[in-house]
Amino acid sequence: MRTTQPVLAIEGLTKHYGGVKALTDAGFCLMPGEHAAIVGDNGAGKSTFVRLITGVEQPNSGTIRLDGRPVQFASPLDAREQGIETVYQTLALAEDLDVPANIFLGRELTHFNLGPLSVLNHKAMRERSAAMLATTGVKIQDMSETLRGMSGGQRQCVAIARAAGFANKLIILDEPTAALGVQETARVEEIIKGLKQRAIPLIIISHNLRQVFDLVDRIWVFRQGRIICSRPKHLSNPEEIVGLITGAIDPASLPAEEASLAC
Ligand SMILES: Nc1ncnc2c1ncn2[C@@H]1O[C@H](COP(=O)(O)OP(=O)(O)OP(=O)(O)O)[C@@H](O)[C@H]1O
Ligand SMILES: [Mg+2]
Repeated sequence: MRTTQPVLAIEGLTKHYGGVKALTDAGFCLMPGEHAAIVGDNGAGKSTFVRLITGVEQPNSGTIRLDGRPVQFASPLDAREQGIETVYQTLALAEDLDVPANIFLGRELTHFNLGPLSVLNHKAMRERSAAMLATTGVKIQDMSETLRGMSGGQRQCVAIARAAGFANKLIILDEPTAALGVQETARVEEIIKGLKQRAIPLIIISHNLRQVFDLVDRIWVFRQGRIICSRPKHLSNPEEIVGLITGAIDPASLPAEEASLAC
């Protein structure tokens, strides 16, 4: 039993697509300032979990509490308005818009706020976008180019810069560096460490256990549509996590309080 109030507390989260049990009875907990990793094989239910907690899809059952308050987001925009920024595995960016328009989509900066008569402040959005992108180290020649002509890695950096720039409650990254080169991966990891220093809670899905052990406090293991246990990093190791992911290690064999699924 942990005493402080969790930022995010989830109980019994379930999503079935017809006969496919993508996620069943998932329990999860994230404490203030905590960075958590979600690991598991392909198809284990990780992205489904993210889509359910950020309003992309609605669960069949279960409860989600944010700062102790039950929430149910009708859409990803709804979640963003509550300070939850997400970079989805399948990127949700507008191909026909340029970088600043993507970064400020839905929260455009204006000279004066006059509702529909507002005048967009393009200069401010360009400057702030350039500053956000600089944190990822990605090189984009022309910010006014649409995303259509950009590489997967460049697009990923735009999405990560946007999320890191706006998150104030929680940031969720679904395999953020899977499409990135060595240098960009290192920069993204620095951004994540910066969020840790700012005490912004984070959930990262990653297959890269080196990255996981480098970045997070706690590791949650998904297996065949269930969250089977969580392990504090300092009490675990990559071999143990691989054993849990593959089923070679039974989570019941771990000390109960260390593998806790409850808050
Ligand atoms: N919209 C959908 N309709 C039907 N089945 C789905 C849908 N979305 C996901 N699934 C199924 O749910 C299961 C979990 O998928 P999910 O994308 O959550 O896995 P994942 O752990 O993120 O995998 P990966 O590591 O490959 O990204 C899979 O069997 C998948 O085929
Ligand atoms: Mg996934």
